[in-house]
Amino acid sequence: MKVKEIENNLSKMLKKTRYEHVLRVRDKAIELAKLHNQDVKKIELAALLHDCAKNNEEMYLDKYNEEFKNLRKLRANNPDMENPKLLHCYLGRIVANKEYDVDDEEILDAIEFHTTGRINMTDFEKIIYLADKTEDKRDYDGVQEIRKLSKINLNKAIVKSLDDTIKYLIEGGREISIASVKVRNNLLKGV
Ligand SMILES: [Fe+2]
Ligand SMILES: [Fe+2]
Repeated sequence: MKVKEIENNLSKMLKKTRYEHVLRVRDKAIELAKLHNQDVKKIELAALLHDCAKNNEEMYLDKYNEEFKNLRKLRANNPDMENPKLLHCYLGRIVANKEYDVDDEEILDAIEFHTTGRINMTDFEKIIYLADKTEDKRDYDGVQEIRKLSKINLNKAIVKSLDDTIKYLIEGGREISIASVKVRNNLLKGV
């Protein structure tokens, strides 16, 4: 599917604020891809589609139930797949493939792991992860530091982002995804 067609579809499927976020993630991802020598055209597709299942989780879960079950098996029943906030990441992989004709594994992985990250992320995945967290309208304590780091060192930027998130979750008495602790420890080795 062509970029224009994808934009068109997404503008209909997503809430307006979500669609605008997606366009900002695209701009940020392209900026980072140029700095870190990644394929700009490919990163654009991954960025545009990273939230493609958002706002429609129930509908897609129903439509692609078989595919979701298969992915769940493939991911050894990863408990994150039960988390309603993360559902759009797993469904996003399936929807990007089925509805937007993407079969490039690197793009599909970047979509699936854009919120949690994972062990041994590629630079391509790291850029989508960071673009989502640092697009121009993101405004939270520490975002400027993560923005700055992401231009120089992708690993350091993600470690800082995870440190902040983990602190915030602890302070709020909320659950921490085991995956994000593992990702942090894994990236720390490469910092
Ligand atoms: Fe997302
Ligand atoms: Fe997003």
